[in-house]
Order: sequence, then C-alpha cells, then structure tokens
Amino acid sequence: MTRFGIVGGGLMGHGIAVALAKAGHDVAVHDVDPRTMATFHHRVGPALAQCGVPSSRSGPIGARITTASTLDGVAREVDVIVEAVPERLEVKHQVLAALEAAAAPATPIWTNTSVLSITRVAEAMAHPGRLAGVHWWNPPYLIPLVEVAPGAHTDPRVLDDACDLLTAMGKTTVRLRRDVPGFVGNRLQFALVREALHLLDQGVCDPETIDTVMRSSLGLRWSAVGPMENADYIGLELTRDILRNLAPHLSTEGEAFPSLDKPLNEARNGRSTGEGLLPWPPGKETEVARRLGAGIRRNLARPTTVPG
Ligand SMILES: NC(=O)c1ccc[n+]([C@@H]2O[C@H](COP(=O)([O-])OP(=O)(O)OC[C@H]3O[C@@H](n4cnc5c(N)ncnc54)[C@H](O)[C@@H]3O)[C@@H](O)[C@H]2O)c1
Repeated sequence: MTRFGIVGGGLMGHGIAVALAKAGHDVAVHDVDPRTMATFHHRVGPALAQCGVPSSRSGPIGARITTASTLDGVAREVDVIVEAVPERLEVKHQVLAALEAAAAPATPIWTNTSVLSITRVAEAMAHPGRLAGVHWWNPPYLIPLVEVAPGAHTDPRVLDDACDLLTAMGKTTVRLRRDVPGFVGNRLQFALVREALHLLDQGVCDPETIDTVMRSSLGLRWSAVGPMENADYIGLELTRDILRNLAPHLSTEGEAFPSLDKPLNEARNGRSTGEGLLPWPPGKETEVARRLGAGIRRNLARPTTVPG
C-alpha cells in the first residue's frame, strides 16, 4: 500500500483518487475551492459504482479516500504526490513551489499535465529531479493507459518507481524517452481534432458527420489494431503513396481555428453552456457520460486476441 496525496479534486483529481483506492492505496485529496471539496465524495461514489465496487464512503474502498483542508495535509506523510490542478503553467508553478515547501525533499511528485512540457512545469522547483509527467486519461479508473515522461532533470528512479507502481495496479503504462508537449496520446488526438476542424472550416461536412465517420470506422478499428500495425497490414508502400497524395492537403494550422472561435465568441462552450459545435439539450450530459462509460467497459470486456 502506498500513501498518495492529490492536489486538485476536480474531474481528474477525484478520478485518479478512485483509481488509486481501487488498487488498494490510501489517498488524501486537497482542493483550494470549498465547493469542489463539498461535492468531492458525491462524485467519488458514482465513480466507484462505475468500477463495479462498493460505492459507500465508509465501504472498503471509499474509506481509503479522505479529504484534507490544507495543502500540507496532502504533502506530508505521503509516499507520492499527484498534481491535478488546472492546465496553466503559472498555477502549476505556484502549487509545486508550495508543495516543495511542505513535502520531504525526496517525495516524488507526479504532474498530470495534458500538454505542458515537464521541463517547463519543473522550472519553479528546487528539486526538479522528483517531478515526473504521469498522464492519466479520463476517466482514470476505467481507461487503462497512463503515459509516463521525464523532464530534462527527472531522476530516472522516479520514472522507474512510477512505472512499477502503475503496472502493479494493472494500468497499461508507457514510458516516453524524452519530454515532448502532449505526450503521445494528446499529440495523436489533437492532430485529428485539428484536421476535423479544418474539414468544418472548408465546408466539407458538419460536426455530426465527423463524429459518425469516427465512431463507425476508425474508433472501431483502432481499439483492435493500432495505426502502426495497420500501416504494416495495408503495406508501407500504400501508406507512403496515400501520404504523398494526401499530406499536402492536411491542416498545418497553428493559430487560427474559426470553427472554435465562432461559437466561443457567441458564448457557446459546449456541454457547460448548452451548445457548442453541437446542441446539448437537458439530459444529454448524463446520456453522454453513461454512453462513454458503457462503451469503454464494453471494449475492455472484449478479448484482444481471438482464437485462430
Ligand atoms: N479533463 C481531462 O480529460 C484531463 C485528462 C488528462 C489530464 N488532464 C489534466 O489534469 C489537470 C486537471 O484537469 P481537470 O480536468 O481535473 O481540471 P478541473 O478544473 O476539473 O480540476 C482542477 C482542480 O484544481 C483546483 N485548484 C486550482 N488551483 C488550486 C490550488 N492552488 N490548490 C489546490 N487545488 C487547486 C480547482 O479548484 C479544480 O477543482 C490539468 O492539468 C489537465 O490538463 C485533464
């Protein structure tokens, strides 16, 4: 059993707490926002239920998750600290500096940044060797993958220990050789999102069509055969021919995303405002959350190899 302290009890912080507790670890969570703390256990219960384990706060798994009213409460007397505060460099710097002031110098810190460079996240730290990029996927108690990456100064033993611990929990752990914004998963994901927005901007199709194409083709294929294995499967010659013909037409945009700017300028942010690229009528949020959880569980239940 490892004792974890988590800073940030939002979407990822509460989900990571559930994943860790489910694997037998003790977790203390602190959030600066009193409302987030007040709703914390109300969010943990349904997440435990989604894992098919007892969801009560006093049950065998729920009781492993506690809340702490101060940052000190998640920095002292823990074996590993998880940082899950918003994706803004200045917030990460402030929280990491405060954590270092409270924690023992050797306590490893895992940052759950999605796309920031681990080296840059560590810039505010006195002991950057203790910081590892440990990127979970939402919901962390269902999605198997965790990506582990170094910053320029990360102690390799911190990465070794993180990989061992996550693997022992049953997570699919991948370790990157160097620091790269977005790890592997988000680079692939947002290359695809950028191209989808480009298709919208070019008037090729509507947002519903993008989701239909994805869910009825690539979404099915890629959970069974990844893009590298598929390149070999169709042949590298065909893969190169396709790329030579197609790559010049793909988006390389780095700044302007009109299909996002238009709704955002009209205060349409998606789920949270009732409309975004798509309409979000009442009840859709719950339906999407259920469909997402059920879809992931269905895929995980499928065998990855089939008898010859
Ligand atoms: N949402 C995702 O799907 C996802 C997936 C992987 C990684 N991440 C990353 O995880 C991190 C957290 O994302 P999230 O989606 O959980 O965000 P979130 O907004 O749901 O939660 C962040 C929490 O941090 C709290 N916080 C802010 N400043 C704090 C401070 N000084 N001390 C303590 N708590 C503080 C906020 O009150 C909030 O509850 C980000 O770096 C994000 O990029 C998100």
